[in-house]
Amino acid sequence: MNEREKFGSRLGFILVSAGCAVGLGNVWKFPYMCGQFGGAAFILLYLVFLAILGFPIMVCEFAVGRGSQKSCAESFKKLEPKGTRWHSYSYFCMAGNYLLMMFYTMVSGWLLYYCYRSAIGEFTNATLSTEQVGEKFSEMTASPSTMILWTVIAILLAFGICSRGLKKGVEKITKVMMVLLLLLIAVLAVHSLTLPGAAEGVKFYLVPDFKAMADHGIGNVVFGAMSQAFFTLSIGIGAMAIFGSYLDKKRSLTGEALNICLLDTFVALMAGLIIIPACFSFGIKPDAGPSLIFITLPNIFNQMAGGRIWGTLFFLFMSFAALSTVVAVFENILSFAMDLWNWSRKKAVIVNIFALIVLSIPCILGFNLLSGVTPLGEGSNIMDFEDFLVSNNLLPIGSVVYLMFCASKNGWGWNSFIKEANSGKGIGFPAKIKWYVTYILPLIVVVIYLKGYYDMFSAKGMMYLIPWLIAAVAFLAVVCYLMFSRKKNRN
Ligand code: PHE
Repeated sequence: MNEREKFGSRLGFILVSAGCAVGLGNVWKFPYMCGQFGGAAFILLYLVFLAILGFPIMVCEFAVGRGSQKSCAESFKKLEPKGTRWHSYSYFCMAGNYLLMMFYTMVSGWLLYYCYRSAIGEFTNATLSTEQVGEKFSEMTASPSTMILWTVIAILLAFGICSRGLKKGVEKITKVMMVLLLLLIAVLAVHSLTLPGAAEGVKFYLVPDFKAMADHGIGNVVFGAMSQAFFTLSIGIGAMAIFGSYLDKKRSLTGEALNICLLDTFVALMAGLIIIPACFSFGIKPDAGPSLIFITLPNIFNQMAGGRIWGTLFFLFMSFAALSTVVAVFENILSFAMDLWNWSRKKAVIVNIFALIVLSIPCILGFNLLSGVTPLGEGSNIMDFEDFLVSNNLLPIGSVVYLMFCASKNGWGWNSFIKEANSGKGIGFPAKIKWYVTYILPLIVVVIYLKGYYDMFSAKGMMYLIPWLIAAVAFLAVVCYLMFSRKKNRN
């Protein structure tokens, strides 16, 4: 059998995994959620969830990847005790990676398009009114062809990088993108913080406003913060596990996961620090939600001195963050076909280019031709639904699966997990917290998950609540079945 390809360097591993983690979650979702849910109060919750939930789960994922030397398509099968059914979770992982990309590539395309539009000065024209800048967003979403074009560009760029292989493509290019991203952050943050009136924005960021949080319903905010913690760290669908499988045993996984969590949190906090003070400086509230960076910010750039160049640099920064994630998830997607069916990388790339273009179409049409399809109630669209399935379902529940797999005797087991996590130099995973990982952590996730469902759908009316709650419970039941059942005729 062929030796599995490995990263060229430790820095390569850290930057590619961080590249997978750093993405729309950090630069788009985090700032708008923070703006909507009361700034510092939300940040506090988010940081707690990162530390107590996200971080240990990331170590579990890396351990499963490195222990099995396989992507999530085969890792469970390789490590599970005979007769158990954990391997069925692989299908959820694969579905999760595809489902994520079905809307992620579209938004990455928006960012590339906005970078281009900023560069040609489309948003910076003294005669443009606030409404006209807003209309530029609606113009884009009303045009399926424009969106398809930019989504295809994002897909081709990312697969182009992956087609060159792990070391020569993914590692090499992601390293460059991540270094440029960090440089851009420094430049943009210094600029934002020196704008007149920026201090007000910093205050919003640092002084908790529990009232704004309560206005949104505490349950919603807590559910949102937890889902966001999983989303931003890319955990629950094996997206990170694969980078563990490309890793040697020189370093302990806990130390590596810590580096990645810190880098990811740093980028999210800085993205907020770039965006929110700029809003305050121009007297605009940062609570617009998802349109924050596509409508609110271009308006700000329009009023700002040197707005054309700042806007272009800003969307370049956003594009690097998004593309580094798309490349990482595409690497996963390619590895499914390569691990499962021994396809060559080239064949996997060609087939998946077509697959992803087709799969991203429903989300694009959800903004125009299919805008009548509102699966989550009035005002929602297909993208919201896809995002909901991944972020609010597959990621939290998948995280519980990884935890249980590592902790339970019926799975890979605590001792094998600790041995794998702690091989190599660096911080060890505290073996004493077994009880926490086995019982408390999954319980916290499931309680917040069900409570989040209840709050989210009961607010829309009881009619919505019942089918969704049934779906949530059925989903949990299927997962428990996969986790705990064994085939009878085992030897
Ligand atoms: N972490 C990525 C982001 O913040 C999103 C992601 C989620 C990637 C799950 C892979 C798996 O944008």
